[in-house]
Order: sequence, then C-alpha cells, then structure tokens
Amino acid sequence: MKKATGMKFYITTAIDYVNAKPHLGHAYEKIIADVLARWHMIKGNDVFFLTGTDENARKNSEAAKSLGVPVKEFVDENVKKFIELCKKLNVSNNDFIRTTEDRHIKVSQKIFQYVYDKGDIYKGNYEGLYCIGCEKFLTEKDLVDGKCPHHDKEPEFIKEESYFFRMSKYEKDIIKLLETKRFIVPENRRKEMLNRVKEEGLKDLCVSRVGMDWGIDVPFDRNHKIYVWFDALINYVSALGYPEGENFKYWPADIHVIGKDINWFHSVIWPSILLSAEIPVPNSILVHGFVNLKGKKMSKSSGLTVNPIEIVEKYSSDALRYFLIREIPLGHDGDFSEEALTERYNNELANNFGNFAQRTISFICKNFDDKVPEGSSSKVQETVKEKIEKSEKFWEESRLREGLEEILSISALGNEYFQKEEPWKTIKEDKEKAAHCLYNCANILKDLCILFYPVIPSSCEKLAEQLKIKIDWKNLGKNLKPGHEIGKPEILFRKIEKAEEANEEPKKPDETANKFSDLDLRVAEILEVSDHPNAEKLYLFKINCGEERQIVAGIKQWYSKEELRGKKIVVLANLEKAKLRGETSEAMLLAGEEKTEKGELVGLLFVEDSKPGEKVTVNGMEPNPKKEIKFKEFKEIKMKAGKDCVLYKNKKLVTKSGETVKVEKVKEGAGIC
Ligand code: MSP
Repeated sequence: MKKATGMKFYITTAIDYVNAKPHLGHAYEKIIADVLARWHMIKGNDVFFLTGTDENARKNSEAAKSLGVPVKEFVDENVKKFIELCKKLNVSNNDFIRTTEDRHIKVSQKIFQYVYDKGDIYKGNYEGLYCIGCEKFLTEKDLVDGKCPHHDKEPEFIKEESYFFRMSKYEKDIIKLLETKRFIVPENRRKEMLNRVKEEGLKDLCVSRVGMDWGIDVPFDRNHKIYVWFDALINYVSALGYPEGENFKYWPADIHVIGKDINWFHSVIWPSILLSAEIPVPNSILVHGFVNLKGKKMSKSSGLTVNPIEIVEKYSSDALRYFLIREIPLGHDGDFSEEALTERYNNELANNFGNFAQRTISFICKNFDDKVPEGSSSKVQETVKEKIEKSEKFWEESRLREGLEEILSISALGNEYFQKEEPWKTIKEDKEKAAHCLYNCANILKDLCILFYPVIPSSCEKLAEQLKIKIDWKNLGKNLKPGHEIGKPEILFRKIEKAEEANEEPKKPDETANKFSDLDLRVAEILEVSDHPNAEKLYLFKINCGEERQIVAGIKQWYSKEELRGKKIVVLANLEKAKLRGETSEAMLLAGEEKTEKGELVGLLFVEDSKPGEKVTVNGMEPNPKKEIKFKEFKEIKMKAGKDCVLYKNKKLVTKSGETVKVEKVKEGAGIC
C-alpha cells in the first residue's frame, strides 16, 4: 500500500461486550468500518482504524461468575475470539483497545477527575431501574409488561449513593450539534435524536455504582466504580493516548460506526462528556441497522445466531464482506442467509466480475503474449467514468450498498462490451479490432480491481498481482500502457456448490431452543477436594458420576473442603469441557444463587440416598442428552429453588430412583446455575 500523503481519517467501531462469543452483528459493523478505512487508504489518506472490547461491564462479570471463573481470566479468554474475528474478517484495524488495559483506565480516571474538578460531577442518590443486559438505567416508560423489551427481563431496582454527571448543562450545545447536517448519518437517525432531546430534555446522568467488585474505580472515591458506559466511550480517545500521545493527532474521530441501539450514547452522552472535558466532539456518527436471520432478530434464547467465523471458514472473508455490504442498505435492517449469500456470490462475483477478469486475462495471455495490446479509449470507458463518479458520490455519503451496485454494473458493462465486440471472432479476421477491445477490457478490469478493493480486498490483491498494478485511487481512469505485461489468469471466485443445507429453511426457534431433555444431569459423589494450583478462589474436585472426572469450581467462598468431601451433588455431565487456569473441568456442579444484602450466596444441589451416576430429570420426562452442550445453551434452561426441591417449569427434579433433589442455603425462588 502506498504511503499516506492525504488527510487524516480516524474511524472507529463500537467496542464489543465479551460476555459471549462474537456474532454476525459484530462482524457486520467491523466490515462497514473496514470498507471505509480501506477506501480512504487507497485514496491516500492517513487512516487510523480502531476497534476493541468493552470489558468493565457487569454483564461480563456476571457471565464469569456464573462459570465460577475469575472475571479477568474470563475476559482475557473471550477477547481472543474478538481478535480472531478481526483477523478472519481481514479487517485492517491499526489498534485493538481493551478497556481493562492500563492505558485506558488511566485516561478514564483522568477525564472523570477533570469533569469532577470542573463541578460537572456531583454526589447524589440514585433510585431507579437498571438493566444489566443493556447496561443502562431505565425508566418505567422503557418497560413492556414490567420487563426490558430487549432482554425480556425485569430490571433491577437500585437505590444507592451515586455520582451524577451534569449532562443537563449541555442541552443547548447538544441540540445545536444535532442540528448539524450529517453529524449523524443517515438523516432519520439524526432527527430521531434531535426530537428526543427537544421533547425530553437532557437529564443528569448517574455515572457511578457502589458495591461492585469489577470496573474502574472513581479516582477520588474508591467505594464507587465508574459507570461502564462513561468509561467505554472514552476508549476512542484513550486508545490514541489522550492527551499527549502521538496518535492523539487523529482526534476528533471522523466516523464512529455504531448500531442503532447505541445511538443515544454516542450522539448525546459522548459529546456531552467531551464538551465538559473540553475535548473536541467527533465529526460524524454512522448508524447502521441490524442483521436479522430470515426476518427474525438474532437472539441467544431462540437459538437464532450465526457464528461469523464459521461463515468465513466455509465461504471466505470476501464472500461474507461482499454479501453484507451488497445486501443491506446502510442504516436499515437486513437479512442474512447462506442461501442468499450463495446466490449473490455465484451470480455477482463468480459469473459477473470473476468471469470478466478471467476472460480478459486469458484472452490477452493467449493472443497477445501476456501484454496489454495496442488500442485507444472507446466510448465504453466514458460510461465507466460516469459510473465511477456516481459510485464515489454514493460512498462519500456512506451509501455503501448503492456504490457497490454501481461498481458491479461496470463489470456487467465490461462483459456486455466483450460479448458485443466478439474478439474471439475478430482475432482471426481483424486482429487490430480484437486488440482495441482487449485494451479497453484490461483498463476496465484495472479500474474494477481498485473499486472493488475496499469490499473484497483479498480477491482484489490477487487480481492486482495478476494485472501487475498498484491499488491506488489515482490509477482510476489512467489507462495502462500498451505493452504492460500481465501475469497468468487465476480463478478469483470458485462457484459455491449449493449445499443442501443452503436451501433449507432455518430451523424454527422452538426447534432450536434448548430443551431440558438435552441435559445429562447426574448424581455425583465428591471423592476429593483440593485447592486449584493456580487460582486462589477455585477448588479442584475428583468426583464419581458413574465414572471418575475432574471438576473446577468457584465455591470456596461458601464451602470448606470438609463440608464437601463425600457429599452427593448434581452435575451437568455433558457440558463442553473447559480449561480454567490450566486445569480441565469435565463437568459442572449445579448450585442455587441468591443475591443478599451481604453479597451473593451459593448453595449446592444435593441428594442423600441416590447412587453416584444416577440420572436426574424432571417428573415425567425421559432424558435424551445431547453429546455435548454449550454453557450458553444450558443457561437458557431456567431452573429455580422450590420449597425443599428444585423446579424446572414447576416440575420437581428427581433422581432415577425417585429421590427429590434439594438445594442448600438459598431461599425459594433463587436461580439455579
Ligand atoms: N459495549 C457496547 C458498545 C460500547 S461503544 C463505546 C455494546 N456492545 S455490543 O457488543 O452489545 O454491541 C457492539 C456493536 O454491535 C453495537 O454497535 C451494536 O449495535 C452492534 N450489534 C449488536 N447486534 C447487532 C446485530 N444483530 N446487527 C448489527 N449490529 C448489531 O453495545
């Protein structure tokens, strides 16, 4: 890639929560940002592209705790999947920020302190609702049937001492900002925010929580942790080394790419913090819609999710990148299906662009000794020029889909031209005419290689090698000289065989939803208990659950070794194995969890008379365990403590010999995990 000489261009994505694996929505956002980053790169701009992970959220710590794993260890492990996703998608990020890094913590505290010293943060009392799923304070108005509509869960009621950010002070400035055309793209998202601020006004924001053991300390009051959104947004400047770091020259961000659900945080809260901290506000916020699966919202609970890494491994990163950009108009929701991806890949990349590349290069190699033949620009190149201008205009407005459509139509035009000119005939009768045609085709192909590059970089780099050209925006419309030598043709896009599964309807949610009968629950006797060699809070168990196995468990806080030895508990024996601090856990024990004033309380599920290895089920259900079950699947199956029993859908858990399973320590209603 050429050295940047143009303007600086700073682009970011939202930073992802690491409580679960990355999904297609995360991939979509990184792809959008990468397309824009690469486009600016080949235009010669000095690009800085940032992505990363949001690690101080409570939802991350809750997920870790439910696994009995230290939170830091859990986030360290999960972040790897997000880094892998970036690599697999071939995104060109210059940096990857993790909000548990020192460089971020320092800057977050610095800004929090600055805003406090200025008098924009004050102490008060918060009384209201909080949804951990959203990591957001809610009002009654946000609820549907008393629940958060996004997570179908009742929010927590919180009454505690908190620090508040004087956001109300910035109402006028924010309205002015939101009145700036193109501050938020697309336009309807800008109006939505502007109307909301005008209607509701800006209220002060609760920016700290007490009693948390995970998060960034409020610098002047260690009893409080900084509210996760306050620190998360700061990633955009902490990664640049605010205030003295060399990379801070990239600030303000030219584009923050985000999803529609977090527009308010970026368009209202973030600029208010920046105004208070006296840091310039970003230039624009690009809001994309959601990727759905056949019209349905992706969600863990319905089993409707797609692993982007698997899709890339099956089809290639270019196939997924092309499909998402081509299919979904930016700002709108769109659908993903393997069937539609295959259709577009085969018709548009293999049959259209790939075919044009193949026939052009093959013809030149075969008939013109691997050299671009003599010719001059014909009318078709004028049309190409118009289309390039149109596509560029679309991209300037971040209308990536429309721009890509225009580019694809150039390829179709090239094919049409080749077909009409019939060089395979004229080569025999009028070689000059055939040469003229191939001269034009070679130049159209060179332009296409540059134009398609931001969306399908791997394929275009391969094509650029064949054409022996540099991918540089300045080379658009500059014709290759006759005699320019090219390489041998290589197939760019192999057609995807339509696999049977690609034609299948996606499974209905209730078919994919996890069933209780999938679980392999068994009685297990604890044979030995020892301290985990590398983790203070964990135990290692040897159990007999019909066979001898090892378990790693985080229940030290609630049980001594003596209490545990010889106890008969209930384990999930088909949970996928996990390595926790170097020790393998080959099953998971089940326990009740209760939140009390003194903190969390955990009590084990237990039996007295049943034998180790006996299956545990609910009355009237025959277990039919899956070979392996993932933790997130297990979590969807909600059990709770009953009166002297454990319940699943109001039915008691019993062992094969009929003994009722009980739970220790926790109250009726406590969740089981
Ligand atoms: N951690 C916050 C962002 C903090 S930014 C300072 C967060 N994380 S997230 O993991 O829930 O979402 C990350 C991004 O993915 C968001 O922009 C979100 O809108 C986007 N998507 C999440 N699900 C999505 C789809 N199904 N489709 C497209 N993008 C969606 O929010």
